[in-house]
Amino acid sequence: MTAPRDDLGVGGVAGIGVDAVDVVRFRRVIERRPGIVHRLFTETERAYAERSRDPGPRLAVRFAAKEAVLKALGVGVGAAGFRDVEVTRAENGAPGLALSGRAAALSVGRGVRTWHVSLTHTDTIAVATVVAEGPSVRRGGAAP
Ligand SMILES: CC(C)(COP(=O)(O)OP(=O)(O)OC[C@H]1O[C@@H](n2cnc3c(N)ncnc32)[C@H](O)[C@@H]1OP(=O)(O)O)[C@@H](O)C(=O)NCCC(=O)NCCS
Repeated sequence: MTAPRDDLGVGGVAGIGVDAVDVVRFRRVIERRPGIVHRLFTETERAYAERSRDPGPRLAVRFAAKEAVLKALGVGVGAAGFRDVEVTRAENGAPGLALSGRAAALSVGRGVRTWHVSLTHTDTIAVATVVAEGPSVRRGGAAP
C-alpha cells in the first residue's frame, strides 16, 4: 500500500534497517531444528523458498529482512513475532513487506506509511535492506 503524497512534500524516512545472515550457519540451524522454519516464516514464504533446489538462501534473506524491519522500528528481537513481518513477492519478482500483529502496531505507532525492501543472496551470505517511509516532509523544511 503506497500512501499518497501532496504537491508540497516528499515522503520522509521514518527508519532504515539492514541485516546480513550467514547462509551456511542458517542452513545448519534449520537442518538441526526443522520446526523452526514454521515458527519463523509464513506459509507463502516457505512455499516460495521450497520452489528452489536450495531453500537456504531464500529463507536466510527473508530472516534478514525481518530483523532489518525490527531495526528500522527501533526495537529488538521479541518485540514482534517473526511471522508478523512477511516478505511478499510481486509478479516481476520484486520483494515487498506485509506487516501484521505487533509489527504492524509498532509500524503505525512510528507513523510509517509504506515499507521498501531490497534483498540479495549468494550461497553463503544473505543481505536485506529496508526503508520505512513516514509522513511527508516539506522540501527543505520541517514536517507540515
Ligand atoms: C533482480 C535481479 C537483477 C536480481 O539479481 P541477482 O544478482 O540474480 O540476484 P540477487 O541475489 O542480487 O537478488 C535476488 C533477489 O532480488 C529480488 N528481486 C527479484 N526480482 C526483482 C525485481 N524485479 N526488482 C527488485 N528486486 C527483485 C528478489 O528479492 C530476489 O530474492 P528472492 O528470489 O529470494 O526473493 C534479477 O533477478 C533480474 O534480472 N530480474 C529480472 C529483470 C528485472 O526485473 N530487473 C529489475 C532491475 S533492472
